Amino acid sequence: MSIDYNEKIPNNVDLAEDRRLQRALEKWQPAYLEWWRDLGPAQSDTFEVYLRTAISVEPGGWAHYDFVRMPEYRWGIFLAPPVADRRIGFGMHKGHPVWHELPGEYRAELRRLIVTQGDTEPASVEQQRYLGATCPSLYDLRNLFQVNVEEGRHLWAMVYLLHAYFGRDGREEAEGLLERHAGDPDRPRILEAFNEQTENWLSFFMFTFFQDRDGKFQLAALAESGFDPLSRTCRFMLTEEAHHMFVGETGIMRIVQRTAELMREHNTDDVARFGGIPLALVQKFINFHYSICLDLFGSEKSTNAANYYTMGLKGRYDETKIDDDHVLTDAVCEIPEVRDGQLVMTEAPALTAMNERLRLSYRQDSQRGVDRFNKVIRAHDIDCELTLPHGAFHRNIGGCAGIQVTPSGEIIDRETWNKRQADWLPTPEDFAFLRSLMRPVTEPGRMAGWIAPPKRGIHGQPVDFDYVHFY
Ligand SMILES: [Fe+2]
Ligand SMILES: [Fe+2]
Repeated sequence: MSIDYNEKIPNNVDLAEDRRLQRALEKWQPAYLEWWRDLGPAQSDTFEVYLRTAISVEPGGWAHYDFVRMPEYRWGIFLAPPVADRRIGFGMHKGHPVWHELPGEYRAELRRLIVTQGDTEPASVEQQRYLGATCPSLYDLRNLFQVNVEEGRHLWAMVYLLHAYFGRDGREEAEGLLERHAGDPDRPRILEAFNEQTENWLSFFMFTFFQDRDGKFQLAALAESGFDPLSRTCRFMLTEEAHHMFVGETGIMRIVQRTAELMREHNTDDVARFGGIPLALVQKFINFHYSICLDLFGSEKSTNAANYYTMGLKGRYDETKIDDDHVLTDAVCEIPEVRDGQLVMTEAPALTAMNERLRLSYRQDSQRGVDRFNKVIRAHDIDCELTLPHGAFHRNIGGCAGIQVTPSGEIIDRETWNKRQADWLPTPEDFAFLRSLMRPVTEPGRMAGWIAPPKRGIHGQPVDFDYVHFY
């Protein structure tokens, strides 16, 4: 399953065999490149960046590393290899062979799933457009661009499915993916968390830690799909997603490390005076990003989510490893609910609670990352712990929307919330402070004062490698 880079659109889906599809995608390609130029990483046209490019989809050794001029990056269509005799693993079609063509009766549902996922990919590129100008190091600048080109490729992945399986309305949806823009008042991106600008590098690392992790869980659930082309696409996307979360996790870890060093050196929590990012501020950003990401999973009770599962279109995280009947008609699960002003856990049919189930898997995965941050803090003998806020904190979707809850889970009235929210969520002053720290550092090996160097470089290169060339 190697990839042919002599093609106009590199791919491993035999695009040359399907002239109509090839022509349609070649028509979409210039619109994509124009979008990249207008809304992709600002001023990166002349940069040559040490990037990885997919050369095969086999596990291990799929990536090739070299310097690439940003606009010449070769975006392509790569699906993970098919699994022989793959069967649908859940829902009413459990045990039947997977669909290699679009199941007509589920056309609308699949289109919606693919468009919603596809919309987040270019959105994140748009949100991160201006970050390059304030990179804390060349190493980080390179990682930003790597994430950006791969999110661009993820858009290609979804657009391929739309073009290949949905005919005319698929083509229209593919155009729409380039017409909606993050934060556009008239045509915003579909999901709320993908409309705010990622304006500083703390936000960027939080984004790649929390939002990209949401991506991981959505892709993992779609990788279980009975619609095999979607499953294969998502399986390959997941291998790229892992790097995005690595960027987020190690980025936060390095900030925490630097902050802890400054706290020890100056014997104070208030490291802002010494050019560091106080742990209290890191905590506020965790509160913000985690809570808006919980919203991305949707309502605790959802008929759509139940239908997607029953139809065999979207499974649970690690569906095949779960020990139950994978049909869940009689199963129940616990979901949070507000009753008489109190947060209580109630029973709901497991099918309608699919979103909650995926959210729980996400919470556990996020917690493991936060535990690793705390290990860094403890290693410096500092008595402070970063935490994920309560699941009901700062929520806009689902049963907890419309109530005010502290990060520790206590329900409070609106007035108390107004008085205290600046303690829990980033304020305009916090953003201004971060802006004052964000000064570009572009000398190989040098780091901004608020972040520790990474443990190692990319692909065996030293940390002080010149990862980006400017012309
Ligand atoms: Fe992505
Ligand atoms: Fe990602």
